[in-house]
Amino acid sequence: MNFKASTIVERLPIHYFSSLHEKVAAYQEKGIDIINLANGFPDLPTPETIVGALKDAVDNKENHGYPSFYGKEKMREAVAKFYRREYGVELNPETEVMVFQGSGIGITGIPQSLLNPGDYLLTTDPAYPAYKVAAALSKANYYAIPVHEQDGFLPDYTYVPEEIAQKVKLLILNYPNNPTGALATPEFFKESIAFAAKNGFPILHDFAYGAFGFDGKKPISLLQIPGGKEYGIETYSASKTFNMAGWRFGFAVGNGSIIEAFKRFHSHSYSTVFGAIQDAAITALNAPQDNIDRLRDLYEQRRNVFVRELRQIGWDVSYPQGTFFAWLKVPEGFTSKTFTELLFEKAHVAVAPGEGFGEYGSSYVRVSLANKEEILLEAVKRISKLEIFN
Ligand SMILES: Cc1ncc(COP(=O)(O)O)c(C=O)c1O
Repeated sequence: MNFKASTIVERLPIHYFSSLHEKVAAYQEKGIDIINLANGFPDLPTPETIVGALKDAVDNKENHGYPSFYGKEKMREAVAKFYRREYGVELNPETEVMVFQGSGIGITGIPQSLLNPGDYLLTTDPAYPAYKVAAALSKANYYAIPVHEQDGFLPDYTYVPEEIAQKVKLLILNYPNNPTGALATPEFFKESIAFAAKNGFPILHDFAYGAFGFDGKKPISLLQIPGGKEYGIETYSASKTFNMAGWRFGFAVGNGSIIEAFKRFHSHSYSTVFGAIQDAAITALNAPQDNIDRLRDLYEQRRNVFVRELRQIGWDVSYPQGTFFAWLKVPEGFTSKTFTELLFEKAHVAVAPGEGFGEYGSSYVRVSLANKEEILLEAVKRISKLEIFN
């Protein structure tokens, strides 16, 4: 017997990159050496101190029972301390902090805690695909503002039609941005808060790559900007900053009314987070800032080498400002899809086609810098042999 999925599930897109991942696996199984630059997760292991903290925490019998629905008190305090240290932002650990299993849960759960059918979720095109999923799960409409390289991939709100602006009940932003690698400026966040205030909606800022800004530019938290805490909520992830992608730990900070709504939604939908994971995350948050700086420097070094070498072979691409992605404009005559296919079939290099992030990604491909320098260099060598840029 086959049962029909709900209309919500039917509305969910099939994961755009799943066919690419399957293709990579199929080729690798046949013994073909594919360089996979389409991946979106850190290549380095979790630091030993964090692993050790988890081992100890697992032995602690207090962690064998149900933890608090809203995260341990010392966990929320560690988050507040981290935000004070990194961004000079003061948070009330009781009312302005919330923890969950990976920021993906916040990104899809916060919209469901705020939106009603018929409301609009506003974001950018291109954007991280989970935002569209969040709109579908919320039975809300989705409107994406095209962003362009010449504007630093920052949206211009004057392009949002007035009748849509009136129905927007949530704006999602993400800087440092996946896929474009762009950073926000304080002026842009000020404009965003003014636009949100004018239309009376909140902003969810996805700060998953908050640790990685290059050329001496530290990414800004939305909450650092005046009005940021009044209109904003920010999700943060341990996955990238601490190389803890598999551990599933993230948190949200900001506007108390949104935190309260999301706590209620979250306690019913996802319960809470294993106490031992919380203890290990406290160790991560309290660790010296140098660890984060070293990781950022590593990605920056890879970026410098990779982009320099691509330019050397004649591919005129831009340097991303942050994240661990490079967003590369495809050469004249190609689309993201046809160029991805060419690189895959002829150079055995897998990249993510930009159209998976939205229509305005269709002349770009995304490359992950979460790969060793020698792998990135080998990819350039293979691409160079195609002689496309001569
Ligand atoms: C922009 C962005 N936001 C959120 C996430 C989700 O991160 P996690 O659920 O691992 O915290 C990712 C993961 O790739 C991402 O790229």
